[in-house]
Amino acid sequence: MRLLPIVTAIALGLGASAAVVADDAPAPAPTRVAVRAAHLVDVKAGTQRDNPLVIIEGDRITEVRYDGQVPAGARLIDLGDATLLPGLIDCHVHLTGDPTEIKGDYYEAVLKRTSIDAAILSPTYAKRTLDAGFTTVRNVGADDYVDISLRDAINRGDIPGPRMLVSGPPLGATGGHADGTTGFSPWIEFHDVNGVADGVDAIRHRVRENVKHGADVIKFMASAGVLSAETSVGAPQYSQEEMNAVVDEAHRWGKKVAAHAHGAEAIKMAIRAGVDSVEHSSLIDDEGLKLAKQHGTYLDFDVYNDDYILAEYAKKGFPASTIEKEKMVGRLQRENFQRAVKAGEKMTFGTDAGVYPHGWNAKQFAIMTKWGMTPMQAIQAATVNAADLLGMTGKVGAVAPGYYADLVAVNGDPLKDVSVLEHVGFVMKGGDVDRNDLKR
Ligand code: ARG
Repeated sequence: MRLLPIVTAIALGLGASAAVVADDAPAPAPTRVAVRAAHLVDVKAGTQRDNPLVIIEGDRITEVRYDGQVPAGARLIDLGDATLLPGLIDCHVHLTGDPTEIKGDYYEAVLKRTSIDAAILSPTYAKRTLDAGFTTVRNVGADDYVDISLRDAINRGDIPGPRMLVSGPPLGATGGHADGTTGFSPWIEFHDVNGVADGVDAIRHRVRENVKHGADVIKFMASAGVLSAETSVGAPQYSQEEMNAVVDEAHRWGKKVAAHAHGAEAIKMAIRAGVDSVEHSSLIDDEGLKLAKQHGTYLDFDVYNDDYILAEYAKKGFPASTIEKEKMVGRLQRENFQRAVKAGEKMTFGTDAGVYPHGWNAKQFAIMTKWGMTPMQAIQAATVNAADLLGMTGKVGAVAPGYYADLVAVNGDPLKDVSVLEHVGFVMKGGDVDRNDLKR
């Protein structure tokens, strides 16, 4: 973008000297913007306030006022009757893939595509996610470090997309949920950079590799999975010693840990190891709920996923055994989500988008309220709580002075019907308007 004046000058035949003049011009003062709406969901206080005016300088919020006074020189963005919220946060996405790529041939993705294909498509998914109001995401699992390149391209301003925290390849046992080659002929070799590592020393080394190449967070597979080839969904796939090693090593490097875990035993082992969040959490039992509370572990339930998998994955050529596993786990996951809400657990918002289409992230809100959360709780899970899990409190997840100017706005009252978040009309990230359909 910075090259643009020079490029324009050359195109106009003005030569190098004109470009020098443009470079010498005084830097413009940081633009001041005021965003006006009818209501603001104050996620920190758990209330709604009327007539907010959010003042923004550069990429940050400087003030939120309620007297309607637009500061002199500020550009006004008037969103009319809309309700403002902080930009939404999804703690569990996979921006390097999308189910729309799978068109009936289950093996096509594994045998005919590389991470270069994933890299070509991922900016589209990043943009869809941002357009849907998710201004921050945690990408928990991508082979070949595609996620790291994607994050960096977004941070450089080369492509639009949400703020990303990324894990690189997720760690896991040979033959387990992180091992994409299970079930193939032993003579077939894959040459991707994945996270398969067995035993304490190999695990510590693998964590260090991810940190070395730029991971913000460490992800590992504590249990088996649904969409991978194992027969069990919930069996632990690392020993306690191995899980302890992941967490000890990651924390020593200042990285948080997210554990994929469906099974009750694997969930408890991961919590005892000290993980920062349990992903899926499907079959968590009472002891697990108690342990999570004691340890202050965040629980993340991807409760929308089941609807999409059961509707679409058989058509996509997934084996019947996978569909059976989903049938077993989907309903129980929602029931256990409800028990976790009742137990007052620390809950966040993670969808596993990438298993279902990017941009549909907000469909999970309605399932969360159907299964026990108030709309405010569901919104807090995807804002303040998510920011806390990501270690980004003070930067994202609220509309307050000092925070990044990450804002979304919707028509309708999200505290009455949280599904209005499926149709955000305005998205701003770091002071830049990504889209605005609410213009008056
Ligand atoms: N990626 C997860 C897995 O394969 C998806 C689980 C989806 N099912 C669900 N009920 N949340 O294990």
